[in-house]
Amino acid sequence: MSGHEFESYFPESGSVDLADQSTSIDETTYAELRDLASRYPQPRSALLPMLHLVQSVDGRISPKGIEACAEVLGITTAQVSGVATFYTMYKRRPAGQHHVGVCTTALCAVMGGDVLLETVSKHLGVGVDETTPDGKISLERIECNAACDFAPVMMVNWEFMDDMTPEKAIVLLDDLKAGQEVRSTRGATLTSWREAERVIAGFPDGRANEGPSAGAPSLLGLRIAEERGWSAPSDANQSPKAGSSTPTQAPTEPAAQAQEAAAGAVETPEAKVPPKQRRKATKPGEGTAK
Ligand code: FES
Repeated sequence: MSGHEFESYFPESGSVDLADQSTSIDETTYAELRDLASRYPQPRSALLPMLHLVQSVDGRISPKGIEACAEVLGITTAQVSGVATFYTMYKRRPAGQHHVGVCTTALCAVMGGDVLLETVSKHLGVGVDETTPDGKISLERIECNAACDFAPVMMVNWEFMDDMTPEKAIVLLDDLKAGQEVRSTRGATLTSWREAERVIAGFPDGRANEGPSAGAPSLLGLRIAEERGWSAPSDANQSPKAGSSTPTQAPTEPAAQAQEAAAGAVETPEAKVPPKQRRKATKPGEGTAK
């Protein structure tokens, strides 16, 4: 049997770029790194936000940034480097002024994520994990961003760009390149990637409440429940009875109604079946081939 070939989507595996020793880390950075470390009962718990701060200063995980984190936390540079090279949010080469991600995981792929990535790559003239020669935009293939109800999804500096199309992506990229103000489809004004990294590190920019906290498709079930006056079952109803050998329970009446409404909301063929019949077919032993 011939072997299968897999293409790695993480070509950056390996060390940080030790050949590039440039850095802007100074005493202010050290003070902020110490500030982050002091926010946790165990200082080393601060390593992830500290690495985001390093990226906000150096535009990547720099050798000096690794040294600074190790020094502040009293751990080895190998320990810091091991964490920094494990997560894809930490960049080993400078990201662009704006960092663009295109999701190509299952649902986004079905909705056109791969075409979107190809379009973005072609329009920018760079491949995945590359930056445009003018340093303005870097590109990344990203995994599911838990925004599948808005697929296909792009990210710019970790802000959502929902329901994208190749045409909308080209307009977005041209606006970013031209330095125009761009907003996430959820409302937030885009900053630079470095500014976003500083916020992720734990230094808020006061704009956390720009735009809604969740989009309409994510809130559909809640809206239906509110309209119909439904509420979640109490804990007592959800807990399995003591000594029960079955780990799951049949849905309570409100839960069954919620499932029916959700099915009706997306107009599946099942939604055409009267609710009573659908509920009946879910009883144990029923609805199966004889
Ligand atoms: S698959 Fe793209 S956000 Fe979930």
